[in-house]
Amino acid sequence: MFTLDINGTTCPLKEDVNLLDFLRDELKLTSVKNGCSEGACGACTVLVDDKAMRACVLTAAKVDGRKITTLEGLADREKEAYAWAFAEAGAVQCGFCTPGMIISAKALLDKNPDPQAGEIKKAIRGNICRCTGYIKIEQAIALAAKVLRGEMQIRASVRAGIGTSMPRVDAREKILGTGQYVDDIHIKDMLYGAVLRAKYPRALVKRIDVSAARACPGVEAVLTAEDVPGERYWGFIIKDWPVLVAAGEETRYVGDAVALVAARSRKIARDALALIKVDYEELEPLTTAGLALSNSAPRIHSKGNLLSTTRINRGNAVEALAKSAHVVTNHYVTPVTEHAFMEPESALAVPHGDDGITVYVASQSVYEDRNGIMSILGWPAEKVRVISRRVGGAFGGKEDLSVQHHAALLAVKTQKPVKLTLTRRESILVHPKRHAMDLELSTGCDGDGRITAIIARIVADTGAYASLGPPVLQRACTHIGGPYHVPNADITGLCVYTNNPPAGAFRGFGVPQVCFACETNMDLLAEKADISPWEIRYRNALEPGIAMATGQIAGPDTAIKETLLAVKEIYQTNPVVGIASAIKNTGLGVGVPDTGRVKIEVRNGKVLVLTSAACVGQGVATILTQVVSETTGLPAEEIEVGAPDTFLTPDAGTTTASRQTLFTGEAARRAALLLVEDMRRFSLTQLEGKEYLGEYTGETDPLNSAKRDPVNHVAFSYATQVVVLDDQGRVKRVTAAHDIGRAINPRAVEGQIEGGIAMGLGYALREKFPLEKGVPTARFGTLGLFRSTDMPEVEVILIEKNSSSLAYGAKGVGEIATVPTAPAVGSAYRRYDGKARFSLPLADTPYQKDGS
Ligand code: FES
Ligand code: FES
Repeated sequence: MFTLDINGTTCPLKEDVNLLDFLRDELKLTSVKNGCSEGACGACTVLVDDKAMRACVLTAAKVDGRKITTLEGLADREKEAYAWAFAEAGAVQCGFCTPGMIISAKALLDKNPDPQAGEIKKAIRGNICRCTGYIKIEQAIALAAKVLRGEMQIRASVRAGIGTSMPRVDAREKILGTGQYVDDIHIKDMLYGAVLRAKYPRALVKRIDVSAARACPGVEAVLTAEDVPGERYWGFIIKDWPVLVAAGEETRYVGDAVALVAARSRKIARDALALIKVDYEELEPLTTAGLALSNSAPRIHSKGNLLSTTRINRGNAVEALAKSAHVVTNHYVTPVTEHAFMEPESALAVPHGDDGITVYVASQSVYEDRNGIMSILGWPAEKVRVISRRVGGAFGGKEDLSVQHHAALLAVKTQKPVKLTLTRRESILVHPKRHAMDLELSTGCDGDGRITAIIARIVADTGAYASLGPPVLQRACTHIGGPYHVPNADITGLCVYTNNPPAGAFRGFGVPQVCFACETNMDLLAEKADISPWEIRYRNALEPGIAMATGQIAGPDTAIKETLLAVKEIYQTNPVVGIASAIKNTGLGVGVPDTGRVKIEVRNGKVLVLTSAACVGQGVATILTQVVSETTGLPAEEIEVGAPDTFLTPDAGTTTASRQTLFTGEAARRAALLLVEDMRRFSLTQLEGKEYLGEYTGETDPLNSAKRDPVNHVAFSYATQVVVLDDQGRVKRVTAAHDIGRAINPRAVEGQIEGGIAMGLGYALREKFPLEKGVPTARFGTLGLFRSTDMPEVEVILIEKNSSSLAYGAKGVGEIATVPTAPAVGSAYRRYDGKARFSLPLADTPYQKDGS
C-alpha cells in the first residue's frame, strides 16, 4: 500500500504503478505530458516535495509518502502570473513542453525568487523545447518572477491588428495545460491500439499467425493486411506505402506495420504484440543510395530504386566554368535528422456505425488525413470526419499518415473508440526524416568574384517510401544556387529508395542541405577571389529584376542585400565570425495547385474564422485573428478561430512550405473584406448567420517551363545569419537578419526565428540519427537536441520591405530560420581554426564532446 499526496489530495494505491501513467490515466491530470517515457524530455516534470522530477521514471513506491504537485495544483496567483508572463513573452508555440517548463520554473522560484539569467537557464536544462529556442521561455520566467515578487502588475495585452505583438490566442490553455492534445482525450470504454512493426528492414514475410494474440483476454481485434477493406497502399505522390505488409511481401524498413491490435488497456495491447508470430526470410537491406543504384541491386519497389530525377539547365555551365577566373568544387555529406517534435503521434478514432467515423488527429492537414483514411476504408468523404486537436509540434514530420489510418481501421472493426499513441521509440522509427544528401558542387566566379556558373549533383536517400521525397529533391535543386544571380546552372538531383527510414518533409524541405554546400563554396570562392565572405555575397546577391538560377526574376520585395547590410557591422567587427545567406520559397509553387481558404461566419454576435490550416505551433490562429481584426476593425475579443474539421472548415491545404500566413492569411483578408462590405450597412447582430468565403490561389509555372520569365513561386524570403564564436570555440552569438516581407506579429516572427536557429545549431553541431544496417539506434536523449544551456545569445533583425497587398505583405518565415545557420557556423569555424568542413554535424568542435 502506498500513499501519495497529489495536489493536496491523499491518494492511496494498492499496487505500485508508474507515476506518469497514474497521473494521466487515473487522475486525468493531463497537464503532465508524455514526450518520451524515458526521462529525457522533461515534459512530464512534476514537483516531488520541492524538487522538479520526471514522473515517467518514478513509481508510486519511489514517491511513497511524498507530496506531488502538478500544474493543476498551483495556486491561482501563480497560475495567473505564469499564464500572463508566458503569453506576454511569446514563450509558447506548440505548448507541449510548457507545463513541464513551468514546474521547473516554480521549483527554482520557490527557492530563489530573484534568479539570475544563468540560473534560469540551468533550471530548465532538463526540459527540451523543440519550438522556441528557449530565449522567450527564459524571459517569461524572469517576468513571472517579477510578478510573483510583487514588482510588476499583470497588464492588459496590446490590441490586435497587423504589426502588433498580441499574445497567442491559444496561449492560456497551453500554458495551464488545459488545452487538449489527442492523447489527453479519454472516452469511457475506449480501446487502445498497438502496432507490430517489421523485425528487419528488408525481409520476406512468409507467414503471419495472429491466433494466440486474438485469443488473449482483453484483446478485441487483431488485424492484418487482409483486413484492409479499401486500398492497401497510400502516399501523397505515389501510393507505395502499405498500410499493413501482407504475407508474401517484403518489408522495406523497420517502421513497416505488420499487424494491429486493439485491446482494453495499453498494456494488454502491447503485450499481445509479442504473441503474434511472423515467419521472415531475412534479406540484405540496401542501406545507401549507391548500393540501391547499383546494377545488381534488388528492386525495393517494382518500378526500380530511382524514385525521381530533377534537372535544371540554364545557359552553358560547363563552358562558363571553364572560362571562370576561379572555381571551387567540393563534395558534401549531410545526415538524416529527426524532427523530435515533443508530442508523439496520436489519433483517436470514434466509430458511428453505418454513419461513418470521426478521427481526432494532431497533424499538418485534416484533409490529407481524411483522403488517406477514405481510400483505405473505401468510404466516401461524408463518412469520414477528421478533427484536429492541439498539435505538439510537427516541423514536417506530421504530414504523412502515421497512426490515423491504423486507429480508424481498428475502430471500424471493433465499433468502439480506439486511441493509438506511439511510444517515442516508435515515433523515431516510423515517421519520415530529413533526407541525407550527398552533394557535389562546383561554383565559378570571375576576377571580381561575380558568380559565372554552378554545376551541382545531388543524391538524396529517400528511404523506403516516396512520401514527399520528389518535391524535397526539387526544392534542393531549385535552391542550390542560393540567393544569388547565377547566369549558368547545370543541376541534377536523384531521389533514391533505400531500406532506411523514409525521408520526407522537414523544416527547410531540402534547402538546409544545399545551403550548406552553396554557402561553404561561397566562402572558399571568396578566398580565391581575395575578397571577404561578406563582400562576395553582397556582390552576387539578387536584386529586384535579376534572374535566379531557375530563371525566375526576383520580385520587388527582394531584400537579401538589406539583410547583408544589417549584419555588416557585426560581421566586420568580430574576429571569429562566420556568415551565410539563404533563400526559401513560400508556397508549393512549380505549377502545383495551391489554395488557402477561410470561411467567416457571424455567430452569436462574434466573428468565427473557419479554416483547415493546421496550427502546429507557429500560431496561425493568432495571425488570422490579427488579419481579420485589421481588415474589419473588430477587437480580438470578437474574433474566434475554430479547430480544423473536415465537416466544418474549408480546405486550406497543408501546413507546409511556409505557406499558411501568406495563403490562408490572404484568404482571411479576402473573406474579411466581404464582411466589411456588409458591416457598412448592418451591425454584427443583424448579420447573424451570414457566411463569407475567402480564397487565394497562388498561380505558378512548372519548373523548366518554356515561358519567358517563369514564376516558380509566388514569394521568396531571404536571410543572412552571422555566427560569433568565443575563445573556446563555442557559439557565443547569432545575429539573424530576415527579410520577412511584413511582420504580422513581430514577437511571433522572432519566436519562429529563434526556434529555427536552435534547430539549425543542432543540425550544425550535434544532431545525429545513426542507423545500423537501416535500423535507427537513437533514443530521444541521444539525438543531440539543443538544451537551454547550449543556446547562445540571439539577435533578430526584421527587414520589412514588401508593399504587396497579399496577406498585408507577409512572406513565409517558418522554415528559412533554420536554413543558413549550419553554413554560418561552419564559416565561423573556418575562421577559428582554418579548417573547411564538408559534412554535418561539423567535426572537431567542442559540441562533439558534449554528447547531449
Ligand atoms: S516523458 Fe518523462 S522525461 Fe520525457
Ligand atoms: S513550445 Fe516547446 S516544444 Fe513546442
